[in-house]
Amino acid sequence: MTGDTDNKFLNVGLLIIATLLVAKLISALIMPRSQKRLPPVMKGWPLIGGLIQFLKGPIVMLREEYPKLGSVFTVNLVNRKITFLIGPEVSAHFFKASEVDLSQQEVYQFNVPTFGPGVVFDVEYSVRQEQFRFFTEALRVNKLKGYVDQMVVEAEGYFSKWGDSGVVDLKYELEHLIILTASRCLLGREVRDKLFDDVSALFHDLDNGMLPVSVLFPYLPIPAHRRRDRARKKLAEIFENIINSRKLASKSENDMLQCFIDSKYKDGRPTTESEITGLLIAALFAGQHTSSITSTWTGAYLLRHNEYLSAVLEEQKNLMKKHGNKVDHDILSEMDALYRCIKEALRLHPPLIMLLRSSHSDFSVTTRDGKEYDIPKGHIVATSPAFANRLPHVFKDPDSYDPDRFAYGREEDKAAGAFSYISFGGGRHGCLGEPFAYLQIKAIWSHLLRNFEFELISPFPEIDWNAMVVGVKDKVMVRYKRRELSVN
Ligand code: HEM
Repeated sequence: MTGDTDNKFLNVGLLIIATLLVAKLISALIMPRSQKRLPPVMKGWPLIGGLIQFLKGPIVMLREEYPKLGSVFTVNLVNRKITFLIGPEVSAHFFKASEVDLSQQEVYQFNVPTFGPGVVFDVEYSVRQEQFRFFTEALRVNKLKGYVDQMVVEAEGYFSKWGDSGVVDLKYELEHLIILTASRCLLGREVRDKLFDDVSALFHDLDNGMLPVSVLFPYLPIPAHRRRDRARKKLAEIFENIINSRKLASKSENDMLQCFIDSKYKDGRPTTESEITGLLIAALFAGQHTSSITSTWTGAYLLRHNEYLSAVLEEQKNLMKKHGNKVDHDILSEMDALYRCIKEALRLHPPLIMLLRSSHSDFSVTTRDGKEYDIPKGHIVATSPAFANRLPHVFKDPDSYDPDRFAYGREEDKAAGAFSYISFGGGRHGCLGEPFAYLQIKAIWSHLLRNFEFELISPFPEIDWNAMVVGVKDKVMVRYKRRELSVN
């Protein structure tokens, strides 16, 4: 009897332990791994979470939270969770994941009313991929060579209107020159020569229709959005006329517009006028402010740092000895010192300060100190070029302007691994216009350095964190004097 009771207790005991073990095992198998190793969460308020900190600006927030929480952390924003991945060690998935796992469509939806229907974030990924193929083809080296000739003509024409000496706001001047060049290379001769003022005004309305509030509510019925929608319609009409008259006259030009007219989808379907207009608007939005901001910062830093100014002047002299006054695609490609100066200005001031994706499947990352985190699907995932480009374990003295950090032997943009330098993004969605942007900025600065002496007379500019494309806050006043760079 006692033996039976003992056995029963033993059996019940064993059964309970076995059940607990099995339950634990099952829960370990079926419970998402992410529930066990979630990233730390930024402290916030009930309901609104970290909204207040976030509204101070993402960079201010990152500066406060990164030292406390590390390179991976989540911010609750009302009903959304944003997980930040900061630094090359935790960024590979962000840049390399497929669209199925990490998509842009939802987070960049706010561009749809500006770009218009049927393009980029308004279409399925397979169509978008084909449209990005059109961009890639329009920006191939053989095309870029033609664009550079036009960039050089535009720069010569623009600066020939300056006097022998004077004072200008470099920011304003470079913004204007870049609109002219972008019009010529991207939108085409008709716009540049005949319709420039009208089209610029319409783009201005599109620009002013993209406000911080538009990111959350792109269709909010406010005057700026109404002007944006009218401008988009008017641009479509203008481009329809241009496209039709080019087709009627069987005329072909060397510009992005022509490339888009000639582009065909895999099934043989040609692009429509509305799609062409949308792709051109997307190109201008991607390339115009980003490039003009970068050319202004480049100038400000060169005028601040005599040693680098001397190096780029020396390089121009050497190239003039070799090629005379000629400037073309291949000669611009030899300007390594100037390239590094632009790249360093862009490291310190990437105009796109936050890149976003929407996650559709769980994934894990390992930080440089070996911590593993699981990021659940449903999170918005973010990285920040403006913050990551200044990490001290990646870039030595990260706040100092030091173009030589990219020179042979140091190569700090690569030494800590891929995705260390992310001003142009990288991986699957890396910028398609990077070579175009460098050529354009080099063409401008090569002309300026060869033809003018400058002195920065306003204080070193500050950053305009409130802009959608983050740029230079103040005027950048310079005194200039015309000269001809002597090759001796
Ligand atoms: C200094 C100038 C520029 C900067 C800093 C810049 C920056 C960037 C960045 C950071 C991305 C990645 C966005 C993301 O991952 O979410 C990007 C993508 C892109 N950029 Fe640029 N960009 C510049 C100039 C241009 C120009 C001149 C063009 C075209 C004429 C252009 C066309 C594009 C396109 C089409 C994409 C989308 C690529 C894709 O999603 O596959 N960009 N750019």
